[in-house]
Amino acid sequence: MIPPRYWLIVPAAGIGQRMQAECPKQYLRIEGRFILDLTLSRTLDAAAFAGCMVALNAGDQWWPESEASRDKRIQTCRGGAERADSVLAALRALGDNAAPDDWVLVHDAARPCLHQDDLNRLIATVGEHKVGGLLAAPLTETVKRSDGATPPAVAETVDRRALWRAQTPQMFRYSVLASALERALEEGHPVTDESSAVEFSGNIPLLVEGRPDNIKVTVPADLALAGFILSQF
Ligand code: CTP
Ligand code: MG
Repeated sequence: MIPPRYWLIVPAAGIGQRMQAECPKQYLRIEGRFILDLTLSRTLDAAAFAGCMVALNAGDQWWPESEASRDKRIQTCRGGAERADSVLAALRALGDNAAPDDWVLVHDAARPCLHQDDLNRLIATVGEHKVGGLLAAPLTETVKRSDGATPPAVAETVDRRALWRAQTPQMFRYSVLASALERALEEGHPVTDESSAVEFSGNIPLLVEGRPDNIKVTVPADLALAGFILSQF
């Protein structure tokens, strides 16, 4: 039997609305390099992937300037309206090259600080699981539920011991992820990460503890923070 291979999918078709920058956040620079280039080179260098598919926005005018555009390991496809559409487009673009039991690791373009140890622990912990799993970090702060009023007040303190922040990479069997995303999109179930689609399909992903500094660059303050984290590695 041929052992399953590992494919990397990087959704990079977002416009970075919350970042309020002149360009999509994956094309902001840290130490002179695009965030997308940092994310792709760090991830591809950290594990052995059979291939990599990057989903780009139809209006992307920055990609040709990237280092990644000259990297032979990387292919691109057109993304979609939501992140889940972009991931599904990338799965379809991998097409027949990927076997149903192959692993697909989906990693946000906007997470340049993924540590090699986290990636390797995810792959090792998920091992030969039937479904897959994701990196996640336990919550460290006390958690409040708001009453939804303006201004908000505390409705209650939530027990945080069972709560985790979902990160990426999220790693699933090709066929499990493709059918879960198709079904969730068809049925209008909200999909904010791959795991939520896989959960909706009735499967149970593993939670693999990751470093809290695998941040997603989302708001302007995150850019300097990501630069600092990378300078410490
Ligand atoms: N993404 C994508 N296709 C979309 C939306 C998002 O490929 N239609 C990608 C983003 O490029 C990013 C990742 O999914 O790498 C995580 O999404 P998020 O952090 O929400 O990025 P944006 O959608 O670009 O940011 P915002 O929500 O602030 O607009
Ligand atoms: Mg978004």
